[in-house]
Amino acid sequence: MTPKSGLRQAPGDYLSGFGNEFATEAVPGALPQGQNSPQRAPFGLYAEQLSGTAFTVPRRESRRSWLYRLRPSANHPPFTAHPQGLVRGGPFDEAPVTPNRMRWSPQPRPMEPTDFVEGLVTFAGNGDASTGSGIGIHLYAANRSMKDKVFYDADGELLIVPQAGRLTLVTELGVLDLKPGEVGVVPRGVRFRAELPDGPVAGYVCENRGAHFRLPDLGPIGSNGLANPRDFLTPVAAFEDVDRPTLVVQKFQGALWSSNFDHSPLDVVAWHGNLAPYKYDLGRFNTLGTVSYDHPDPSIFTVLTSPSEVPGVANCDFVIFPPRWMVAENTFRPPWFHRNVMSEFMGLVHGVYDAKAGGFAPGGASLHNCMSGHGPDKASYEQAVKVDLKPHKIQDTLAFMFESRWVIRPTRHALESPTMQLDYDDCWAGFEKARLP
Ligand SMILES: [Fe+2]
Repeated sequence: MTPKSGLRQAPGDYLSGFGNEFATEAVPGALPQGQNSPQRAPFGLYAEQLSGTAFTVPRRESRRSWLYRLRPSANHPPFTAHPQGLVRGGPFDEAPVTPNRMRWSPQPRPMEPTDFVEGLVTFAGNGDASTGSGIGIHLYAANRSMKDKVFYDADGELLIVPQAGRLTLVTELGVLDLKPGEVGVVPRGVRFRAELPDGPVAGYVCENRGAHFRLPDLGPIGSNGLANPRDFLTPVAAFEDVDRPTLVVQKFQGALWSSNFDHSPLDVVAWHGNLAPYKYDLGRFNTLGTVSYDHPDPSIFTVLTSPSEVPGVANCDFVIFPPRWMVAENTFRPPWFHRNVMSEFMGLVHGVYDAKAGGFAPGGASLHNCMSGHGPDKASYEQAVKVDLKPHKIQDTLAFMFESRWVIRPTRHALESPTMQLDYDDCWAGFEKARLP
């Protein structure tokens, strides 16, 4: 990737490793050596600590970075209420939540010029920004780049799952170039501009207000497998020196706020630390599964997890269903019927999900909340119980799930959307009753 016009960037594109202590400078000599806050930082840059965790959390939990910027980020006028559009925050009580299973067709693409922030639609969520719990689930669809405008989310970190189109996130800490099949995470508070190098984009966003996403423990799997740390990429430092008015929009306590800065705040010349944006190519996922019979719980497909205070119970798991070999003997191979205490929001990047023969389209979504019975539709079931169980590779598919300990509550917009499939229950109708001897 060559530096984008108007940006000065450190050599290379990305630094590899998950949660590493990185150090990068777009101008040689900009990063102070041996200390964080010298009396006068190099070139008169302003030193700023960006804390992602409380100062006193255990060291293994601590996430913070030191930024060296052209102007202090405190240098701006007040924020005022910004048009809310369809963005929502907790407590997600604007419409009664029902126990029903729900599925939506892909959302319509915007007809008017729409950037990433204007095209952000909250679909569901749980918990509350005021108590730092739960998640927000947003869908985005945009057809123009943000211009002289940046965004940040003070409520949580953003896990962005592109479904269509490349998305270039010019962040305070460097440039993340995302395409479908990759995911990106922007930490809480980090400002970014979303650019669309190839035209219209669409995708999904999980706003995680709980503990930072991290790699799941591997237990008996051992020291390798699932998403491997070296495949996570964090951008090198890049900045712009722009003295034009820039509209800075933030999401704070569920509401949008904006302020007109007289400069671009994407002016971090150098930084070091372990709180930074990162991306991951889901094609690098080391997918594990049975080589004998039955398939394990889908937790084996967890890419990232935001744990809660209860061991093993996630505020949010990000789980994928990627291409993989199916070799299980004498086994019903698709996902089985299940009722879970955890609640599941699914999306599809491309292809066909192996539990649904129809109706679940790329860009669509489904929601199966706590204890809602679901599983393969009738067509998938009937195929799976009679198929010759030869080794078979599921190809050209990428479904994912945001799974949460708390019931996921759709917004009024989602519940009233004409894309909701009112006949979804029918995919489980018509199963023949089992016949006893
Ligand atoms: Fe499920």
